[in-house]
Amino acid sequence: GKTLRASGFHAPVCGEVDSFADSLIAIDENGVIEAVHRPGEPDYDKALRAATDGGALVDLPDGAILLPGFVDLHIHAPQYPQLGNALDVPLEVWLQSHTFPLEARYADLAFARRSYTVLVDDLLASGTTTAVYYGTIHDEANRLLADLCIEKGQRAFVGKVAMDNPAECPDYYRDKSVDAALKATAGLIEHIRGHPDNEDSLVRPIVTPRFIPSCTDDLLAELGALAKDHDCHTQTHCSESDWEHGYVIDRHGMSDTESLDRFGLLRAGTVLAHGNFLSASDMEVIEVRQSAVAHCPLSNIYFSDAVFPLKAALRKGLRVGLGTDISGGPSASMFDSVRSTVSSARQLERGTDPSLGRDERSTQGDVRIDFREAFHLATAGGGAAVGLPVGAFAPGFQFDAIMIDPEAVSGTIRLWPDLYEGDQVLQTILFTASRANIALVWVGGQHRSGTPDRQ
Ligand code: GUN
Ligand code: FE
Repeated sequence: GKTLRASGFHAPVCGEVDSFADSLIAIDENGVIEAVHRPGEPDYDKALRAATDGGALVDLPDGAILLPGFVDLHIHAPQYPQLGNALDVPLEVWLQSHTFPLEARYADLAFARRSYTVLVDDLLASGTTTAVYYGTIHDEANRLLADLCIEKGQRAFVGKVAMDNPAECPDYYRDKSVDAALKATAGLIEHIRGHPDNEDSLVRPIVTPRFIPSCTDDLLAELGALAKDHDCHTQTHCSESDWEHGYVIDRHGMSDTESLDRFGLLRAGTVLAHGNFLSASDMEVIEVRQSAVAHCPLSNIYFSDAVFPLKAALRKGLRVGLGTDISGGPSASMFDSVRSTVSSARQLERGTDPSLGRDERSTQGDVRIDFREAFHLATAGGGAAVGLPVGAFAPGFQFDAIMIDPEAVSGTIRLWPDLYEGDQVLQTILFTASRANIALVWVGGQHRSGTPDRQ
């Protein structure tokens, strides 16, 4: 093990930021935090002496700031090559005209390798230490994505996208039968769980019906049963856009949430992407099932036709984390998810009707989200959503972390410590950091991006 002496921030509780200076973080052989000692606490001097004598003390450079790694709850891995493109049409058009043709290319394993290699490298360098991925329908490419996460050391969930409905999926990109989709899903679960290098389940499988429109009722029911039989996480899209929300009501006579629930697809740790059209009773069902919402604010601007009522969801006690929704959102950085979480809540608060006066416009009540809440959701909140001990510096948590170098030459942070009060350093970092400011990334106590020589 080793002991890091570091200063930084984390937010184990939503809305509260905890800052620490020169704290000792003791990490065991498996990358799990054993203890955290703050200066002034009774054991601090003893722990410092023990670490120093044992040669286990590692000092972060002066001025470096430690944050928990980010948990990105919603990523379409195969869509990385179109990040930043194709956002000018509605969801149902975008899927058919851009996204399905791109995802179909992953039948070509060489293409998959090229794309997935840079994706995992780029996300690690961007500070995403836990990634929840949709793959494609292709067995080989899905296994490759899981293998790359294991090899590069990114904590991840990897799902085989299931989509068999011929009315909504093209012939060239569709599971040809319920059985074929189930076999492929079970095959990926076995591949990941049986992988000889997948120590401590760094990578986990996740059952992934794309969304209700893509799937037949048979497949949805079978996937719910399969998730239960294999005790496996599930993920899907839920009440994302007005078209999609209306489609499910037309086909099933109920909301996405109600329908997913009857198929057994709302489980503890289930990740429901978007949720823009969730009703109060939908939220109650999700809460009871201990499922979670992946809030994807940047993607929602392009596809949702609504703003996710995040504050209402939090008030109901829903588990919520953040997602980039690569490539529905045009940024791979969780910093951008944090920023757009704050700004989209402000848009909701003010409304968009300029004919109303300032006071009349504030009809949404208390819906504001501040940087502290957004920071929590991007870290500990996302970890709790999927039931992983990540996102905070506390005993029993994985040491998944990023080191911010505010002075990185090509970075974008400018700190004014003499003008600051309280947690303004964190606020400045969250709103102005770029990838160049992320100097080091650890997953499970191991360096996974950046050059540790400065330490
Ligand atoms: N709904 C079904 N598939 C997708 C997808 O790839 N991206 C988004 N944002 N929504 C979807
Ligand atoms: Fe999505």
